[in-house]
Amino acid sequence: MATSPAVEPLRIRDAIALPPARTTVTAQARRSDRYTVHVVAGMRELHERLGELLDGVSVAVITDETVRELYGAQLVRGLQAAGIDPLVRSVPAGERSKSLDQAIALWDWLAGSELARRDVVLAFGGGVVADLGGWVASGYMRGVPYINLPTTLLAQVDGALGGKVAVNHPLAKNLLGAFHQPVAVVANVSFLRTTSNRHLRAGLAEAIKKAIIASPQYLEFIEDNVDALLVARDDEILERLVISAAAIKTELIGRDPYEADLRRPLNFGHTIGHPLETVTGYGPLLHGEAVAVGMVVESRIAAARGLLDEATLERIVGLLRRCRLPAEACDLAVAIDVEAVLDAMEKVRLIRAGSLRFVLPVAPGETVIADDVTEQEIRDALAASGLGIAHAARQ
Ligand SMILES: NC(=O)c1ccc[n+]([C@@H]2O[C@H](COP(=O)([O-])OP(=O)(O)OC[C@H]3O[C@@H](n4cnc5c(N)ncnc54)[C@H](O)[C@@H]3O)[C@@H](O)[C@H]2O)c1
Ligand SMILES: [Zn+2]
Repeated sequence: MATSPAVEPLRIRDAIALPPARTTVTAQARRSDRYTVHVVAGMRELHERLGELLDGVSVAVITDETVRELYGAQLVRGLQAAGIDPLVRSVPAGERSKSLDQAIALWDWLAGSELARRDVVLAFGGGVVADLGGWVASGYMRGVPYINLPTTLLAQVDGALGGKVAVNHPLAKNLLGAFHQPVAVVANVSFLRTTSNRHLRAGLAEAIKKAIIASPQYLEFIEDNVDALLVARDDEILERLVISAAAIKTELIGRDPYEADLRRPLNFGHTIGHPLETVTGYGPLLHGEAVAVGMVVESRIAAARGLLDEATLERIVGLLRRCRLPAEACDLAVAIDVEAVLDAMEKVRLIRAGSLRFVLPVAPGETVIADDVTEQEIRDALAASGLGIAHAARQ
């Protein structure tokens, strides 16, 4: 006959001395997260990793309609082969799904399921799904584990890493968000075969950002492999691009995972890029494209301050052009209202307690953070990028 295990009492009674009146009590909470980023090339390897990571748990897959159509059935078959019968829910593809409404619909769905506190959400898609799925996971039951399965280059080199999760607010991008680290990331570069050229290029913008702020070696690697990455879509080169981006981003985040320090080089290109997305309604301009223009404008501010030499400015603009990323207004398929951009920046300034930080490049791997950039400097740099006057949209 089986004997029941001894019941260990949880004895707290001797640990707490009652404090006298009118003292303070200090609360402490520490947490440390650790996760592995896997880069694979093919569905078989992806399923193997997932089989190892998802031992004996239930799974809810959050994806978008495009990714579900392309890869949903394959993913479900792979999970079923590992003994997991996942729930699957998709949102419409695109940035507009990064909304509070979609998050609420997903919480309603999870609440109606049997997913428990230790079960796992799989965020299967691009950066939108990683941000939305991660945020939904962070709020559900005060945080359920999630794994990122990024399917766009942008998500593989950036969005799926680092645990910053959010949805957009009409007033500002990523305004409603949290820090909630994934328990693993599995990036399969073979998914990139079906992404559009435009999305591939936009993803490369976030890799170029990392090269400029952190790694001359990575910058050379990208410069040497533009065609292999964008034209041949060579799996091996893409794997190196993605794993190197993961190494750079995890190193930078590991130094300051919860952004205690407001000097964040990873924001290069974003002080201008985010407002460009806001004023165009989170649609016509891809995030990576907005960041590309943002990097040029912010590099021009650095050059005008004498921080960045002309040759390096040209190197940055030249690389973006070779990658057919937008470097100025006439490269954009949408008209930009500069006054609206400045207004959107002003709103961000107010949200950020009165200061707007710019990451200004000095040399590859070296930046300075400035919070004293004037409106005139911004206007001049925008104008030098063709964003001074209203212009007709170019198709
Ligand atoms: N949290 C972070 O640290 C972080 C960092 C960078 C970017 N982001 C966010 O990421 C978002 C942008 O991500 P994105 O560019 O991946 O956009 P996305 O998720 O909208 O994906 C782009 C498009 O590609 C489609 N798609 C996805 N995978 C595909 C595949 N393999 N084949 C064909 N089509 C595919 C999608 O359905 C979508 O239409 C932005 O909201 C941005 O703010 C977050
Ligand atoms: Zn970004």
